[in-house]
Amino acid sequence: MHLTTLETPCLVLDKAKLQKNIRNLNARMKALGVNLRPHGKTAKNIDVMTMALEGQEGGITVSTLKEAEYYFEKGITDIVYAVGIAPVKLPRTLRLMDKGADITVLLDSVEQVRFVAEAAAEHGVTVPALIELDCDGHRSGITLEGDDLIAIGTLLHNEHGVSLKGVLTHAGESYQCRSTEAIRAMAEQERSMAVACAEALRASGLPCPVVSVGSTPTSNFAQDLTGVTEMRAGVYMFYDLVMAGLGVCDEGDIAVSVLASVIGHQKRKGWVITDAGWMAMSRDRGTSAQALDQGYGRVCGADGEPLDDLIVSGANQEHGIISDRNGKKIPWASCGIGSMVRILPNHACATSAMYDRYHVVDASGEVVDTWHRVNGW
Ligand SMILES: Cc1ncc(COP(=O)(O)O)c(C=O)c1O
Repeated sequence: MHLTTLETPCLVLDKAKLQKNIRNLNARMKALGVNLRPHGKTAKNIDVMTMALEGQEGGITVSTLKEAEYYFEKGITDIVYAVGIAPVKLPRTLRLMDKGADITVLLDSVEQVRFVAEAAAEHGVTVPALIELDCDGHRSGITLEGDDLIAIGTLLHNEHGVSLKGVLTHAGESYQCRSTEAIRAMAEQERSMAVACAEALRASGLPCPVVSVGSTPTSNFAQDLTGVTEMRAGVYMFYDLVMAGLGVCDEGDIAVSVLASVIGHQKRKGWVITDAGWMAMSRDRGTSAQALDQGYGRVCGADGEPLDDLIVSGANQEHGIISDRNGKKIPWASCGIGSMVRILPNHACATSAMYDRYHVVDASGEVVDTWHRVNGW
């Protein structure tokens, strides 16, 4: 069955590109001597994660408890839930631990230590925790300034029901870098900050076995990971236009695309209308601040080859508007009504989240599998 027989819009995953992306980062981490703890939030699928875990120690990162439950059911036990813990999520976390999952939670306040400790001690278990560090002002986490690090670390070490496992940081600001030199510097900033915090904990007599860092840009550009025990990344499996705009990958490396049908022409305006609006692409406009704004996505033919300079320049709920980014003439013959295009997404996680499955294709466009996703919370 060829992909052009699929009903549109739908999500297509190029297996060969996926495998290549995974192998490349695995090899990079091997060369740097660090374990990769792949992030399950991009694929939200066990087949992809099984590939990503090849040659690694076996632990994963997740962004929701739904992912944690799903991956655990599929046989993965070592799971870092890398979003700050809230009281309401503890009963589910503890239930998962009762079943045998080795869940590590993330926190950056004394309040969180206290409520985790109380719930865990009452339940008769010990919950391991990582302290979230803010290495770049991106969002949450603590810095070396002040007493927070040692205060949280000491409490985690001493309280019943919790244990101090180490530190974790995510250089999310690397997405805003404008050069590969800047990403390289960000990777070093991420590493050195995490290592400095680990050393500060150890100097206070506290254990810090885990030093966890990571993002797709920094994992691709880190030159040295001395002191780091694990790298986390998720987008690298699929890549996307934001990563291509950053110079982390080429457009040709992007493994995930949206298959859409051409449903109309507005020849006077130079528009091709498709059935892939923002419900199919997501509202993510991550390339809007980059040097090359890709609209809602870069347009390729059904064979996956880019079509001139076509992008999805506009999107309504179920309508996509394709035009040439430079106002050049549309290759109408390649965009006949009823024909299909493949659109590369700005942000692989956001676009994939609009779908419940991947149609897995080989390089010739034959559908070789269907892989389901675990969406929601
Ligand atoms: C805590 C954490 N670690 C790792 C990652 C993975 O980074 P990327 O999405 O760049 O692959 C993310 C992404 O949001 C994250 O929030």
